Amino acid sequence: MALSFGWVGRVITVREIDPSDETLFDGWYDVYRAGAVADRPAAILSSHDALAYSLRTPNPLKQRLPVAAFAGDRVVGAMLFETWTESNLDSIEVEICVPPAERRRGIGTALWGWARSRAAVEERTIFQCELGVPEGFTTETWPGSIFAAKLGFTVQHIEDHLVVPLPYEGAVQVEALDGYELTSWAGPCPEEHLQAFADLRTAMDRDVPTGGMTKDPAPWHVEKLRAQEERVDKTWLSLLTLARTSDGRPAGYTVIYLPRTDPDTAQQLDTLVLREHRGHNLGAHLKLANLEQLARHRTTQKLLHTWTAETNSAMQKVNARFGFRPVEKLVECELKVPVPRLRPAARGVVLDQDDRILLLRFEFDDRPRVWAAPGGGVEPGESAHDALVRELREEVGIEAPDDPPHLWHQVVVADGHAKGYDGVINDYYLVRLDSFTPSGAMSPEELRAENVHGHQWWSVSDLKSYSGPAVFSPRSLGVLLETLLAEGPPEHPLQLAL
Ligand SMILES: CC(C)(COP(=O)(O)OP(=O)(O)OC[C@H]1O[C@@H](n2cnc3c(N)ncnc32)[C@H](O)[C@@H]1OP(=O)(O)O)[C@@H](O)C(=O)NCCC(=O)NCCS
Repeated sequence: MALSFGWVGRVITVREIDPSDETLFDGWYDVYRAGAVADRPAAILSSHDALAYSLRTPNPLKQRLPVAAFAGDRVVGAMLFETWTESNLDSIEVEICVPPAERRRGIGTALWGWARSRAAVEERTIFQCELGVPEGFTTETWPGSIFAAKLGFTVQHIEDHLVVPLPYEGAVQVEALDGYELTSWAGPCPEEHLQAFADLRTAMDRDVPTGGMTKDPAPWHVEKLRAQEERVDKTWLSLLTLARTSDGRPAGYTVIYLPRTDPDTAQQLDTLVLREHRGHNLGAHLKLANLEQLARHRTTQKLLHTWTAETNSAMQKVNARFGFRPVEKLVECELKVPVPRLRPAARGVVLDQDDRILLLRFEFDDRPRVWAAPGGGVEPGESAHDALVRELREEVGIEAPDDPPHLWHQVVVADGHAKGYDGVINDYYLVRLDSFTPSGAMSPEELRAENVHGHQWWSVSDLKSYSGPAVFSPRSLGVLLETLLAEGPPEHPLQLAL
């Protein structure tokens, strides 16, 4: 998908990037990192290699798309657009990052426009995002919170992000553990504990406080757990401690992740004690045992990070005993949007013998000119092909072929694209002809009433070198046409945003 916005005379183009394109991925990662960690000394972020692995290796449980905002060829903003595939089927998680030097130029908004459009394609209506708000800022003063609030997100849940220095030197005294046994391991779960661990993970997902965030976690089972372990093990060493009753029933667990590609940090993640086993100091015993394990496996890591809900007083007490101190708030936000009403249209990518594309010039009173492919709305009862035939006859006076290749499927959710609608769906079809002078059934006056004020044939280099005030639709038309000419029509229509 591609989408663009004007920016002080330059156009911001947004599109999904191929994470296997190393140069592009490196540029995207640098911008992602610069945007995410600015003013956050305690921020922790997936390392370059961990994220590259995650994005390049398909995960059956989660789709993660890297999306870039470009000014020309330069990446100026980065977004992760993530959807779970077997649960949370209405939700999308977005992380939008713009480096400080590029902020307040509409780049974050342009990335958000892409997310809105892609959400419509995926028929999802709940957006979620997490904001790391460092010490010294509040949700009223932190740029990410102000931006999210402007988009309509509301805060649903807040956690403390806490750290303790490593090597761990605390001397926590806990009363002897009575009636329970602890077992620790590093790496994949031993076969004999797999079912217990899967059940505990399911209980954790259901029990962990998440405030007003919409969550619909799918249960864990042994095969899913093994598949996830295999992925995790590529970039993390997981350190687990499991608590069981003396007669072998699972009672709780805790996990620390040691990143294999980040020498500085370790992460204390889930700690769960099942309800019926609470009140026996199990939380503290689990953490203590896992810290002992950490001491054996730690190499250079300097800080252990953890996250606990502000309202989770039991875990907050345990954390305080272990010497964790707060460094950030992790603010979880959500926005529910209505299903957008989109106007369908069919358009011709009309190419001449010199591979030039025919574009019509649309002029408006209140917005920049737009150069767009001829075509228009699909009327009630019409097929997309009927509409293409009719529109090309009316606007430019040509006959569309019977079965034109379907090139692009563009979904745009944004104001101002179709009156009375929340956006448009444009399907683009290839029409090859010798160059001609457009003269359709509509008179120039009738065309002007539809904002069409002229036409022009454009080569790829014309499109790519254009630097005037007008915009193209789709905005990255130059790149799209170049790809079409090099590779021919795609097997399946490409998904585009604006
Ligand atoms: C939040 C973030 C993505 C915004 O990027 P951006 O490119 O500056 O966003 P835009 O220029 O599109 O801003 C859109 C609007 O948000 C509001 N806004 C954004 N940053 C703001 C700030 N620092 N102060 C006040 N308002 C702000 C403004 O209303 C702005 O419109 P305006 O400039 O016309 O007044 C960027 O600050 C960032 O990367 N922060 C760190 C990561 C993060 O917290 N992301 C949060 C979303 S997942």
